[in-house]
Formats: sequence, structure tokens, C-alpha cells
Amino acid sequence: KQMGSAGFESATKPHAVCIPYPAQSHIGAMLKLAKLLHHKGFHISFVNTEFNHRRLARARGPEFTNGMLSDFQFLTIPDGLPPSDLDAIQDIKMLCESTRNYMVSPINDLVSSLGSNPSVPPVTCIISDGFMTLVTSPAASKFGIPLIHFFPVPSSALMAMKQLRALGENGVASLTDESQRMNGYGNTPINWIPGMKNMRLRDMPFFFRIAGSDDTLFNFIVDTVDKTNDATSTIVHTFEALEPDVLQALSSMIPRVYAIGPLHLMIDRLNREKLFASKHIECNLLEEHNECLQWLDSKEPKSVIYVSFGSVAFMTRQQLIEFAMGLANSNQSFLWVLRPDAVEGDTTTLPREFVEETRERGLFSGWCPQERVLCHPSIGGFLTHCGWNSTIESLSAGVPMLCWPRFGDQLTNCKYICDDWGVGLEIDTNVDRDEVERLVRELMEAEVGKKMRSKAMEWKKVAEEAVGEKGSSSINMEKLLDEVLSK
Ligand code: UDX
Repeated sequence: KQMGSAGFESATKPHAVCIPYPAQSHIGAMLKLAKLLHHKGFHISFVNTEFNHRRLARARGPEFTNGMLSDFQFLTIPDGLPPSDLDAIQDIKMLCESTRNYMVSPINDLVSSLGSNPSVPPVTCIISDGFMTLVTSPAASKFGIPLIHFFPVPSSALMAMKQLRALGENGVASLTDESQRMNGYGNTPINWIPGMKNMRLRDMPFFFRIAGSDDTLFNFIVDTVDKTNDATSTIVHTFEALEPDVLQALSSMIPRVYAIGPLHLMIDRLNREKLFASKHIECNLLEEHNECLQWLDSKEPKSVIYVSFGSVAFMTRQQLIEFAMGLANSNQSFLWVLRPDAVEGDTTTLPREFVEETRERGLFSGWCPQERVLCHPSIGGFLTHCGWNSTIESLSAGVPMLCWPRFGDQLTNCKYICDDWGVGLEIDTNVDRDEVERLVRELMEAEVGKKMRSKAMEWKKVAEEAVGEKGSSSINMEKLLDEVLSK
């Protein structure tokens, strides 16, 4: 018998089955949580779709093999979608449909087979991405296993999503296009959400942008967040000091809410302790390009704006050109992660005038080590779509943001970044090069940008405190473990 890292014997280790939503950033966040639980002595079964597992194996190269650690296993399930190109992102709408309609039985089969497998400990809990609950909750109740939801979005976005059904029933959610969001109608106050102040219709986590007039995604979200009470406890990837009011309000609606984060800072802390057995396990579906770090080394402190719109957001070709020309005219240095599929139905080729103008001060990169980039001393700002991982990584690094949210939680995150946390400026949905130029200059050079940078540095400190030994996130993690292990 072997002893695990937290002193459990192998056969009696608690066993968490971690099931992320099958998209890059959700997998990344769940993996961090899984590594922390592994460090606490858990046996981990980490479940990816076959498609994502193939992408992962390709990105990580030959060192990525199944079962690198005997107590940290990667398992796979089919996603029910037709075979697709490993270089392309799966269509979110199709993925939501297949998740809901197809994955129930593969997950049931997987949990059942783990239960009858004598070489792994009995399953203690299922840790399900909150957005997977439509398929994980049936398995948890069928096999009588406690279900823990993990939401890789802030509690404000979760709370706002919980209001969408009511908005839809009142006819207010019929905000059907982007321009409507930014006009007067988008400014309609929404002042009845518990714990959330000064919300407007435009700050709600809408899904119209990728859904068009089709309401598949809207329904997927409202049906999902109706099920928050199916879990015995809920982990929200945030920290208490960041959103105390809404966390408190959420705690009166959902049992046992634990704010645990920023997860990457909790991982960094373990890495420093060098006691971290799962250190080498990475779940990046894309190969990382590190060259940009040397390029950043050659730049002045706080002189470079980092530009990235995450793993799924699209833009039109005209929007891309407006961003490019705005950056060119701003005269600032930039590091831009431009995905080959960033422009819907078109190439990402940029105008020659842009290329000539920025040759000396701009760098395009493939998928980069973003957490390290944001912590690099040369980075002074982040032009972002406000995905939650990017947002919490930026706050943790003390980097202020220019926000161009696209859909879902990004819209709510943007409101908090700009209005509540005081670390960002919003760019209009209809991007215009003059506005981009002006806002980039404001963020990087002007007094307003300096204030935001110092505010971001304060958040960095607060985030570090939250993950310290006596910090709220560390304490919440212990409380969660006590609760799980007492069952
Ligand atoms: C999706 C949704 O779009 C978002 O709204 C939700 O909050 C989380 O799920 P995504 O759009 O990919 O996420 O953005 P984000 O949450 O910001 O995650 C991107 C992740 O990829 C970050 O952890 C970031 O560090 C990483 N990344 C990004 C890289 O490692 N390298 C890159 O070049 C770009």
C-alpha cells in the first residue's frame, strides 16, 4: 500500500471525478482545481471528451501519456458530434446541444465503470463544471454520489444568469443584436438583483451574439442555472473580497457556496513549495509559444499592451482592421495573440500600412503562456474580451484592462472591471480605430490609466492575501474538504 501526499493510503483515498465543460478555458480552470485536490490527497479521474483529449495529446507531445501518475488519471467520453478538425474550435451551440442531448449516458457509463473498478478507490464526489450539470446531475443521483458544482465564472455572472429566465418571461431579454445593447435600451436599469448594484440591461450575461435569433444557448444557460440546487456544494472561482455582496446573496439562494481562487495563485504557491506531485500535468489544448517572453524582456517596464480575445471569441474582418489601425495609431508597443480562426469566415491578414507602421513595436504570437505574460514587468495593460480566466489573471497580476466583451459572462465581467473594481475602460461594440487609439493611450500613458494600474496593484495584493495560509480561499478550500470528507 502506498501513502498519498496528504497521508491517505492509496486504496482509501478520497476519489474526485472531475468533469469540465468541454472547452479550453473550462478545462484549464478545472485542471487547476483537480491539481489542488490531488495535492490534498485525492485520487483524481479527470474526464475530457475524446476530441479534446486528442488535441491535448497533440499539444503536449509524447510526454503526455495516460496515467502519468497512478492516482491522477485522464479518462475520455465521446461528445456525440461528427468528427471535426483538431485545429478548429467546436461550435459552441452544437456543443451545448450535444452535451445536453447525448452525454448523459456516456457519463453514467463512466461513473458506473469507476464504481466497479477494484483498482481505483470508490468515488467520493463528482466535481462538475456548473455548466455540465444537466448531464452530471443524473449520474450523481443515480449512483448516490455527492455532486459539487464548480463555476469558472464570478459569482456576479452566476447570479445574473439566474435572473435570465425572469427577464425572458418579462419580454426584456429580447435584446436581439449588438447595437441594441449599446443604445439607450441597453441602459435600462436592472435594480432588483440581490447583491448587484447599478446593473443595466447591457451588463446582463446575454448569449445573443453567438446565438443569433436562435435561443438554444439562452435555454441551455437558464435550464442549467435552474439546477444550481442539485449540488451539495458549489465552488465559485473568485475570492471573497472581490465580490462580497453578491457572494453573500448567492449563499442565501444556493447551499454551501465556497469562493476559491484565484486558482493559478494557489497553484503557484504550491509550486514554490516544491511539494507538488502533479506539477507537470498541463491541460492546454494548444501548443504554447514562449518566444514572446524574450521579446518582452527587451521592452521598457509597463510599456506593452497585451492583446488577446481568449479561445472562442470571434470578430468581423472590419473589427480586426479597426483594432489594428487603432493600435498602430496609438504608437504603443503591443503583443497580440491572434488566433488563425479569430475572424469569422475570413482570414486574419492585416493591411500593409499596419504591418509597416508597427514592425518595430508589435509582435504577433501564437497561443502564449498568458499567466506569465501578464506578470511580465513590461506589460502595462491588457486589451481583452473579459473572459473570466483572463480577467482574474489580469487582476492577480495588477494589470489594468481595455474591455471588449462579446457574450455571456464577459458582459457582466466588463461592468465589474470598469465600474466596481476600477481597473478598466470599455470599448464600444462597434469598434472604431479612433476610439481604440484614444483608449489605448489613456490606459497606457494618461493619469486615468495610472490610477487604474495602482488600483489593479491593490487587487493583486488582495488576491495574494486570499490564497495565503490564512486567506479566505485557503480557508474555504479546507471547509469544502471537511464537508466532502465527512460524508
Ligand atoms: C470561455 C468564455 O468565453 C468566457 O466568457 C468564460 O468566462 C470562460 O470560458 P475564453 O473565451 O477562452 O473562455 O476566455 P478566458 O476565460 O479568458 O480563458 C482564456 C484562458 O486561456 C486563460 O486562462 C488564458 O491564460 C489562456 N490563454 C489565452 C493562454 O494560455 N494563452 C493565450 O495565448 C491566450
